[in-house]
Amino acid sequence: MPDTAPPEWDEELLAEYGSPLYVYDLPAVRTACRELRASLPEPARLYYSLKANPHPALVAALRAEGARAEITSRGELASALSAGCPPSELLYSGPGKTPGELDEAIRAGVRSFSAESAGDLARIGAAAAGEGAEARCVLRVNAAGAPGGAGLRMTGSSSQFGFDEDVLLDAAERGLLTPPGTRVVGLHFFPLTNARDEAGLAAELVQSVHTAAQLRDRLGLDLQLVDLGGGFAAPYAVPGERPVYGGLRAVVCAALDEWLPGWRDGTPVVAFESGRHLVGGAGRLLCTVTDVKRSRGADFAVLDAGINHLGGLSGLGRLLPMSARPLRPAGAEATQRITLAGPLCTPADLLGRQVEIPGGLRPGMVLAFPNVGAYGLSASLLGFLGHPAPAEVVTDVTDGERGVVSATRLTLERSEIRTKERVRA
Ligand SMILES: Cc1ncc(COP(=O)(O)O)c(C=O)c1O
Repeated sequence: MPDTAPPEWDEELLAEYGSPLYVYDLPAVRTACRELRASLPEPARLYYSLKANPHPALVAALRAEGARAEITSRGELASALSAGCPPSELLYSGPGKTPGELDEAIRAGVRSFSAESAGDLARIGAAAAGEGAEARCVLRVNAAGAPGGAGLRMTGSSSQFGFDEDVLLDAAERGLLTPPGTRVVGLHFFPLTNARDEAGLAAELVQSVHTAAQLRDRLGLDLQLVDLGGGFAAPYAVPGERPVYGGLRAVVCAALDEWLPGWRDGTPVVAFESGRHLVGGAGRLLCTVTDVKRSRGADFAVLDAGINHLGGLSGLGRLLPMSARPLRPAGAEATQRITLAGPLCTPADLLGRQVEIPGGLRPGMVLAFPNVGAYGLSASLLGFLGHPAPAEVVTDVTDGERGVVSATRLTLERSEIRTKERVRA
């Protein structure tokens, strides 16, 4: 219910778990997953990208919906395993995978990797061969991308992600795509993210299908898996609904039929990835106004949650600006323009500048930021200034009753490292 004030029940949750507080609703996660699947070609594999939110309860809910986990770190590996994901079904991706983390992943039973470069492929192979295993790899391609595609671009220009097409062809010629311990089974694309515009997104996916077919032929690849990535959008920390991609399935199916016939029988398997679209709408952050003040003609509300708990990534200037909605209108009809600041000692700690919200904010009042199930807590500056992390409460509906199924708090603590525990990078 991102567009409405949160239910009275939130006040009970706050009374029990304290402020600030993240609340994640599992029914909303399931609905998002089913709706996204309905927009995608069928059959298709769907990966949930844990970078959006590694909370094991969300991962487990998505796994129960048939989604596999796409992971990029030791922490995400641990979350996926604790959510019950079989290691053989995980896809380990991301640039800069270190020998130590690859060893750990292989030892845990991970066998599918996305390789971002020839060096990355060789390191994956070394880790697999060291355990007498074979890593099934997809090669991430930094293709040109469709003209005019909307969203936040990940590849298509000079980038740390993936192989440029010419670099890939050159690597193949130089025999760099067959290091011991690896078998290249497919291609991986993730050209952009957060694309609200369906036509632009469809053009990107179609272009990736075309590029996959061309590279299959030029590289002589036995193409078993094509991961087309995603880019499915979601609002972030503002009221609103995630877009519905009603026409996407037909357009992408037509491209697959043309260039990768056989996909309907699983040769190749077609996969998609999504983080924010699956979990963004399922989470809200409840926080409390600590102080209200006026400075040189402008109003400020200081909250008990700032960029340490939400929106740390927005400091990079690559996410939308945020605004808040109070738990209930604060008694005044007129709206007010107010800057919402967090508790950190930096002028950068602003959750919204001159946000228009119902007037009458006062200390003790609760605000709810909707649509923060993705890139919320784990994408924030949790260690900065040392405030405790908000509790994370997961709710579900069982036998028609809504209840809390998990309540946890992330902790950052300094612990002594004994020589024996030193990890290899
Ligand atoms: C390779 C890859 N997969 C998945 C994602 C998840 O993106 P989103 O949360 O926008 O779906 C990203 C985001 O950067 C990515 O780089």
